[in-house]
Amino acid sequence: MKLFGTMEINELNHLEIGGCDVADLAKEHGTPLYVMDETLIRENMKLFKKHFISEKLDCRVVYASKAFLNMAICRIAMEEGLGIDAVSAGELHTAIKSGFPKESIYLHGNNKTIQELEMAVSEGVGRIVVDNLDEVENLKRITEEKKLEADVFVRLNPGVTAHTHQYIQTSKHDSKFGESIYGRKIFEIIRSIMECPSINLHGFHCHIGSQINDEEPFFEAVSVMADFIKVVEEKTGYKACELNLGGGFGVYYSREDSPIKLSDFMESLVGHIENKIERNDLSVKKVIIEPGRAIVGNAGITLYSVGGIKETYGGKSYIFVDGGMADNPRTALYDACYEAAIANRITESGHERYTIAGKCCESGDIIIRDIELPEARKDDLIVVFTTGAYNYSMSSNYNRLGRPAVVFAADGKSRVTVRRETLDDLIRNDII
Ligand code: LLP
Repeated sequence: MKLFGTMEINELNHLEIGGCDVADLAKEHGTPLYVMDETLIRENMKLFKKHFISEKLDCRVVYASKAFLNMAICRIAMEEGLGIDAVSAGELHTAIKSGFPKESIYLHGNNKTIQELEMAVSEGVGRIVVDNLDEVENLKRITEEKKLEADVFVRLNPGVTAHTHQYIQTSKHDSKFGESIYGRKIFEIIRSIMECPSINLHGFHCHIGSQINDEEPFFEAVSVMADFIKVVEEKTGYKACELNLGGGFGVYYSREDSPIKLSDFMESLVGHIENKIERNDLSVKKVIIEPGRAIVGNAGITLYSVGGIKETYGGKSYIFVDGGMADNPRTALYDACYEAAIANRITESGHERYTIAGKCCESGDIIIRDIELPEARKDDLIVVFTTGAYNYSMSSNYNRLGRPAVVFAADGKSRVTVRRETLDDLIRNDII
């Protein structure tokens, strides 16, 4: 069990986060409950800002909101001076409604709808990251109709292999994202944007995958992108001013993960970027990264109440919790590993082997397989660590479970930033 940020063990042998006893949080807000350590979120944002910096380049940190998004985190990102990466009208709407500066919003997506493109153009978001030729055509029509301009990047697929789960690799040659730098079509895209007066091409984007715990693929991506920018200059005369390298920095979930030390890595990454730009004599003046998981992953925990323990005839012992794959689909989807503890007697040792399962009607509804814990009891409070990224954002209403509340904890206080879904919320769009 690894504690992050403000997490501590108090004199009651309970876990605390943001100075709040999790047993009190569970009592006040109910379970299942997502709790985010606001201080750690801010520290992680500050860490990127502090170390991803250069004297020669304008370095920007953009929070990849798909990892965890609500209006409260938009405010925090705004206060900490980050941009926001959005991939849908919904994410865009959330950021805009929170008061986020539109010029610092980046719109991604491999299949943006006309409505999403129109919204991005009318709202005047900072950059639209164009994925393909169809999108260039749509954007051309929309900007001409609206007599507005769009500021864009083109998403490239640099073909760099990152060692991570295959579902979250994004730079294989047959990835659905972006246009390969190895094909001919990419030049067609670049030329068609260059010829369109209402679309301003600022540079290129890539994102090689997620939960990457290896430095090498990031360096490789920089080299490949910088070499490609040179080729583009030679072939088309277009000189890129900005380079967006995406996110993907891994975090600790379990003993299987040894994440990169971000402070040192950011500095060597910037050094490498500066070198490549200089050596290739490029016009790139601004570089951007888009961390999501590394900002919120370790800052989040999920609290569950134990409904019962079941020892099966087959020999497996289950702890049943009051949530499951609806609030955390990552184990079912990616075989993700998490650490957990009994939060109300957190240092107690024990060697019972359990599978923590949820309440959904599905055998794959498992949060953790084969975890060693002290003997669990009905009404215990289970804490699952590192659920800050891609848990709330990927949650569903499967089996018509209401989504849990999201609470931010800091300095001994908690505040609800998303309220728990009620039974009536679940039928609000139903029509009979
Ligand atoms: N930028 C782009 C264009 C992305 O597609 C992503 C993530 C990021 C930035 C942020 O990546 P991060 O720093 O969070 O690794 N649902 C999966 C993760 C999918 C990531 C999708 N793209 C999971 O639960 O592991």
